Amino acid sequence: MTYADPGEPEWRRAVLRCMGSEQALVRKIQEARRRLATDGPPHVRSDGDFARVSLPVEDSDVLRDVLLAENPGTVIEIGLAYGSSALAIAEALVAAGSDEARHVIVDAYQNRFHGSGWAAITGAGLAGLCSLVEERSHIALPRSAGRWLGRRRRVRGRKPYLSQRICRLVLPTRAGPPGRAGDP
Ligand SMILES: C[S@@+](CC[C@H](N)C(=O)[O-])C[C@H]1O[C@@H](n2cnc3c(N)ncnc32)[C@H](O)[C@@H]1O
Repeated sequence: MTYADPGEPEWRRAVLRCMGSEQALVRKIQEARRRLATDGPPHVRSDGDFARVSLPVEDSDVLRDVLLAENPGTVIEIGLAYGSSALAIAEALVAAGSDEARHVIVDAYQNRFHGSGWAAITGAGLAGLCSLVEERSHIALPRSAGRWLGRRRRVRGRKPYLSQRICRLVLPTRAGPPGRAGDP
């Protein structure tokens, strides 16, 4: 099942209509991140699971800051779980303020997390920016990643630099595994 198809970036118009400014949405996301880190998600698979599977807050902050510096258009994330890293990514995308921002989240097993991650995303007002594709990544990425990234590239005429790097982590390439010397 797909909660929402990756759509056109209408989210900024909706944000400006409903909240007045992107800063208001950034504050809402930050509050959602703080609440998730302190209170945890409403439902967990088992005791201690949230801390076990989630990206720690400090690392999420680093992820947010790297994305802010790179200012990507489209981010494809594999693995939503309870939503910690997804909220950090969304915070960066909203704060960067790009018209082209879009966050495609692939998670085949969100139902096992009782939908908590997606609930965190929608609760933070991010249903327009984020899309959840509930499929295994090795199926969804080869089929759709090119479309998710390529369409943006045609529209903007700009390379989705960081997105390509992220995909390179999970997609086989002729260049070999990520992180090798000579990788751009
Ligand atoms: C370690 S958790 C992700 C944690 C999350 N990034 C965070 O910081 O809160 C791994 C996630 O990957 C998802 N997952 C596992 N195998 C998958 C696959 N083959 N395709 C897509 N998602 C998968 C799981 O459902 C789970 O949500």
